[in-house]
Amino acid sequence: MRSDPALSLKNLTVCYGGGCEACRGEMAKGMKKNRCPVCGSIWALREVSLSLFSGEILGVVGESGSGKSSLLKCLYFDEIPLGGQLTLPDIAENAFSLSRQAQRRIRNAHMGMVHQNPMLGLRMDYSAAANIAENLIAANCRNVRLLQDRIDELLDIVEMSSYRRRETPRHFSGGMQQRVQIAKAIANRPDILLLDEVTTGLDLSVQAKILDVLKKIIRDFNISAVLVSHDLAVIRMLAHRTVVMLDGKIIEQGLTDQVLEDPQHFYTQQLVHSLLCI
Ligand SMILES: Nc1ncnc2c1ncn2[C@@H]1O[C@H](COP(=O)(O)OP(=O)(O)OP(=O)(O)O)[C@@H](O)[C@H]1O
Ligand SMILES: [Mg+2]
Ligand SMILES: [Zn+2]
Repeated sequence: MRSDPALSLKNLTVCYGGGCEACRGEMAKGMKKNRCPVCGSIWALREVSLSLFSGEILGVVGESGSGKSSLLKCLYFDEIPLGGQLTLPDIAENAFSLSRQAQRRIRNAHMGMVHQNPMLGLRMDYSAAANIAENLIAANCRNVRLLQDRIDELLDIVEMSSYRRRETPRHFSGGMQQRVQIAKAIANRPDILLLDEVTTGLDLSVQAKILDVLKKIIRDFNISAVLVSHDLAVIRMLAHRTVVMLDGKIIEQGLTDQVLEDPQHFYTQQLVHSLLCI
């Protein structure tokens, strides 16, 4: 699948800890791991470049700490990068250089995010409906009748009984919490969905149902998605293309089948092999 890019990312760099002269200079390029041995700063992303094409699902895999969530947080403007350029065609030449307010506007109109940690994506003491309404209101939907109707519609899309709309996510199972996160993420009909370990930690049967719901949403609403998962089975099922991350860098990328069936990098070979051995 090749079409116009929905987004292009160039040289995204994120450093937690501020860095020092050593790691901000030439040494950065030579650092094997993402941690500076001099000052201890974590270089969570080191000049990451990628494109997401329209209608495509881009998988992102890599071990814990490789920078997957940091990548999504930057794309959702939750994390301010040290450097890099995010081009959103017809919207912004470099969205990272816009004001926070402009970034919020873009996020509300064009993006949806499912956080790895539901505590970050949901207000646990608000009802499911209020959680979804929060995003609708942020995009200026203020009419109560329209709000109610859209919330019902969204609960229906994520296959959640509407009688649960008044309950709070704190009392939901992990699968239910993810359904509310998904409903909230697609509330404003985004072009781009950012999905961080959506099914991690869920029972296999629940996982399968949530993946079905997602597949349907992405297809029916012609959404482009970045799908982060350390579960290669999930990536294999959904992602058209896949990038493999290690220590804040992309070490391999290609069509998902290619990457999983004929991995070139030693680390990817190990990753695929470990899955086959389970
Ligand atoms: N707010 C933060 N402050 C300091 N270090 C952080 C912060 N967030 C992440 N890190 C570090 O940055 C690196 C990348 O973290 P990130 O959460 O992006 O990894 P990940 O690939 O999503 O891992 P996981 O698979 O465990 O979710 C890790 O070394 C992590 O410890
Ligand atoms: Mg993560
Ligand atoms: Zn340093």
